[in-house]
Amino acid sequence: MGLLFPFSDPRGAESIPPLVMVEGDGIKVIDENGKSYIDAASGLWCASLGFSNKRLAQAAFDQMNRLPYYHSFMGRTVEPAKLLADKVVDLAPNSLAKAFFSCSGSEAVDLAIKIVWYYNNARGRSEKKRVIARESAYHGSGVLSAGLTGMNYCHDGFDLPDAFVIRAHRPNYALDAEPGETEIEFSKRLASLLDAQIQLEGAETIAAFIGEPIIGSGGAILPPEGYWAEIQKVLNRHDILLIADEIITGFGRTGEWFGCDAYDIKPDIMTIAKQLSSAYMPISCTLISDKIYQVIADFSHEKQTFGHGITYGGHPVAAAVALETLKIYEEMDVCAQVKSLAVHLEQALKSLDELPGVARVRSKGLIGAIDLVPDEGSSGTHGQRVAQAAEQQGLLYRVVGDTIALAPPLIITVEELQEVAQRLRNAIASAA
Ligand SMILES: Cc1ncc(COP(=O)(O)O)c(C=O)c1O
Repeated sequence: MGLLFPFSDPRGAESIPPLVMVEGDGIKVIDENGKSYIDAASGLWCASLGFSNKRLAQAAFDQMNRLPYYHSFMGRTVEPAKLLADKVVDLAPNSLAKAFFSCSGSEAVDLAIKIVWYYNNARGRSEKKRVIARESAYHGSGVLSAGLTGMNYCHDGFDLPDAFVIRAHRPNYALDAEPGETEIEFSKRLASLLDAQIQLEGAETIAAFIGEPIIGSGGAILPPEGYWAEIQKVLNRHDILLIADEIITGFGRTGEWFGCDAYDIKPDIMTIAKQLSSAYMPISCTLISDKIYQVIADFSHEKQTFGHGITYGGHPVAAAVALETLKIYEEMDVCAQVKSLAVHLEQALKSLDELPGVARVRSKGLIGAIDLVPDEGSSGTHGQRVAQAAEQQGLLYRVVGDTIALAPPLIITVEELQEVAQRLRNAIASAA
């Protein structure tokens, strides 16, 4: 086996053969033995239109036949990238004005940080460079984005250059609130802790705060009531930019186009990927405000170039597929569809909440989570047992320790959601 698997134990992979998927069918994937699975995590929170959308395949085929590749460097570009940039700027929160394409979420986040540094150098604030990121955050596997990620397993053994990162509290009301504390009180407390941390570290050294509107890979942690309003007040007070990492939450996942719309977040920079192309082609994007653009455009003009670019950024085939994806979202009225499905997901989760072994459930749009009661003295083993039982039942989802994280394709039907709930019920019962 020539593959070195991401986020896997290589020794384990030597003895346990990986599950090889060979085909997609709506919300299902089929393995090489013909077994079919509902993928209630859309792969990695990304295959929003399922695994067999023919229009996306056709868009790729047509663009490959017309112009399979050209770049956007040094005064050239391609039509799909131009159209897509206008479209994402149009859909994104009003504060954002320009779009830069990369291929992965990690690259989009790395660029966000480079832009923040460049912007502050341009403003003559060369000491204002550090970035606040939270516990349980996932921002990618690049050198900078992994540094921002708040999971130890992404840092262990890698010596990441993360001295630029200041780690803030995660907004996990269920686990971290004090007895009797309301969600709003918890949010205010986190905001005042952040304020104190900024004062201690020195606002003049801190450039930006990065956050996922809903923490995804860290366990589908929903922001408590008032959280984003309180955090934004603190950041504004200290002239700290807000980077919204919407790589999971973008494009209807929350029932709004972006998590920023769902939580009234006004970002200076936003990163998007995954559902941008329903994951059919690798494409991501870093969006920046006009205020930042004007400063970095002048700075780059002095140097006669903006010195960043990647060969496949704005790839015409990926951009054509993304354009077709956005067209489909608009035709299906994706936000309305997710809002109506969200009610059924919430009901389904509530029906599981009473099961033995379930600690709590939560959801927003088509993101859902079930926290299982951890086994005595052993974290993650209960989660693994249920995941194995679910796999036998033909159900895949994202396992985060003892949390079951759900993010089904946005094309899921009510009946399919009920089927997901039934398979989860069986898996939880059989692993109890
Ligand atoms: C919020 C967030 N940011 C960044 C990334 C990194 O994206 P990629 O894996 O495409 O590099 C991810 C991936 O899951 C993510 O969830």
